[in-house]
Amino acid sequence: MEARVFLSPARRIQLDLIARLETTSVPECVPIVALAASRPSCSQAERDAHGDGTKVVVAAIKLTVNGEARVLQADDPNMPLLYALRDQLGLHGLHFGCGLAQCGACTVLYYGEALRSCVMPVSAVAGAEIVTLEGLGTPEKPHPLQQAFIDEQAAQCGYCINGMIMQAASFLAKTKRPTEDHVRQALAGNLCKCGTHVRILRAVMRAAEQMALSTER
Ligand code: FES
Ligand code: FES
Repeated sequence: MEARVFLSPARRIQLDLIARLETTSVPECVPIVALAASRPSCSQAERDAHGDGTKVVVAAIKLTVNGEARVLQADDPNMPLLYALRDQLGLHGLHFGCGLAQCGACTVLYYGEALRSCVMPVSAVAGAEIVTLEGLGTPEKPHPLQQAFIDEQAAQCGYCINGMIMQAASFLAKTKRPTEDHVRQALAGNLCKCGTHVRILRAVMRAAEQMALSTER
């Protein structure tokens, strides 16, 4: 009998992106050394700086992160987006948990969809719009989910909370006034080793109520 594999919407997007990466070239992902050596538009200074272009040392990947144009550097196009966001942009809201798209700790929003950045090659998000936990709200004006997680004291160690909030943000953007069952289902792929699921559920329901009220006003 054929085994059935459950794929969450986020995982499906990742697999789709990886498939696209394998079959298409990504224009925003520019191998700097090759570019400097092969394009007449490159200045002599660039050529001098980057050598003869026989070896691609680093790629510059342009994308938008939290509303700002950013450039990531990658000497390996398969480097996970998670590493680049944490190490190069200093965005530490997202965490490394399993590294296997299994726990959700590394979740970011990719055009509003929850995406597991630990298995997403950085070159596959060239040109994309990414939002991290830091981009959802500010300390002065937190996102309703961020405020609700504080109000409900939903975190214990806090390691999973990035994933819970980002997954819920993607879900609530599309689902007004969800039931508890809907929320449980939406967060079923996010793991919490501390077992604070009840408080997390309360926080998401509280945020959903706040968001529904604010759109009705
Ligand atoms: S670290 Fe990405 S899903 Fe676990
Ligand atoms: S609060 Fe510790 S893993 Fe969820």
